[in-house]
Amino acid sequence: MFEEAFADEQHTICYSVKANSSLAILRLLAKMGAGFDIVSGGELERVRRASKAALKRVVFSGVGKQEWEIDAALQADILIFNVESEAELQLLAARAEALQVRARFALRVNPDVFAETHPYISTGLREHKFGIDIKIARRIYRSAAKYKWLDAAGVSVHIGSQIRAVDPFAAALARVAALVDELRSDGLNIRYVDAGGGLGIEYKDGEFDADDEVVRYAEALRGSAKQLKVHLLLEPGRFIVAQAGGLLTQVLYVKQNGSKTFVVTDAGMNDLIRPSLYQAHHEVLPVQQARSGAVSRMVDVVGPVCESGDFFARDRSLTSLKGGDLVLLLDAGAYGMSLSSNYNTRTRPAEVLVDGKEHLLIRRRERLSDLFAAEKLPRSKRSQANK
Ligand code: LLP
Repeated sequence: MFEEAFADEQHTICYSVKANSSLAILRLLAKMGAGFDIVSGGELERVRRASKAALKRVVFSGVGKQEWEIDAALQADILIFNVESEAELQLLAARAEALQVRARFALRVNPDVFAETHPYISTGLREHKFGIDIKIARRIYRSAAKYKWLDAAGVSVHIGSQIRAVDPFAAALARVAALVDELRSDGLNIRYVDAGGGLGIEYKDGEFDADDEVVRYAEALRGSAKQLKVHLLLEPGRFIVAQAGGLLTQVLYVKQNGSKTFVVTDAGMNDLIRPSLYQAHHEVLPVQQARSGAVSRMVDVVGPVCESGDFFARDRSLTSLKGGDLVLLLDAGAYGMSLSSNYNTRTRPAEVLVDGKEHLLIRRRERLSDLFAAEKLPRSKRSQANK
């Protein structure tokens, strides 16, 4: 879909690993020619394990890269570093010199563009921790010229996530284009523009034509990209995987507290935290077809975790459910498993890849022993004394 929409542009789709970092998914995408947007040494290792060939299509984003992570990415000869501060640029220069490898970099600029989304996932304003103020970027690019092992190869921008309107993307890229012109007039060979990720999906049960959405997005970016004749890098995450995944859970109990009905499921906020963290909406679908004439009622769908914030849906009208029924939480393919935790010492579920009528287990259900594997008990004083 993305490939088609951007067919007229020189581009690489660098799937944002954080959205869903399963090795099997990464390998599928690598086979389709995708590159990857990573934010840690751990994600770099995931890409390596999924596809060594894809390492050369990796962009490394993130505001807090550590020295070992920079070294690992330099040694892997990734495509480009998206640098988020002057201090990071200095470290990159020092490590590139120490390892005697050239580091291609882009400054991630903060374009000061507002995009409507949840405040926790908006990044493009000056008040956010991300990027470098676009107004001072030119000066920093100039100062980077003194570092022999640095190659100012691009400019990058990312304004946030789950953005449904395409105008903010166009506005951000227009500001980037103006900067690229200036940098070129300073003699820099800027070949890449990284437009980031962030294109949103429809989580509610409404009309949503994904193809149409991507075409509108491509059109919004096209103007600036064409004029610049650059290689466009795109970092979509959610848009690629969100709708491909669901969280299957079983109803444990249905209970009534006063006027409220709670459907308690065996999955909780540790498995899918989006409703708790961003008040995100996920459709809840009973797996068994409702019997004809079955009544609906208003319920809260909640998990077993000991937090009032552990809910999947509030005041949702659902056909009657009972213990043992299965329900599917839709659009959990992005930021579901990748944001999951073992809170309340809960094992995480299995992941199954479904392709038509075939299915493949790509991650087994966690066992309790997995949860204790990294822990150590201090030896008691008495047992030490006996030795
Ligand atoms: N590039 C950069 C630099 C990013 O920070 C992100 C996401 C992406 C690309 C991919 O964005 P996407 O296309 O998936 O919107 N946990 C939140 C979303 C956090 C997004 C973080 N950065 C959620 O569940 O909504």
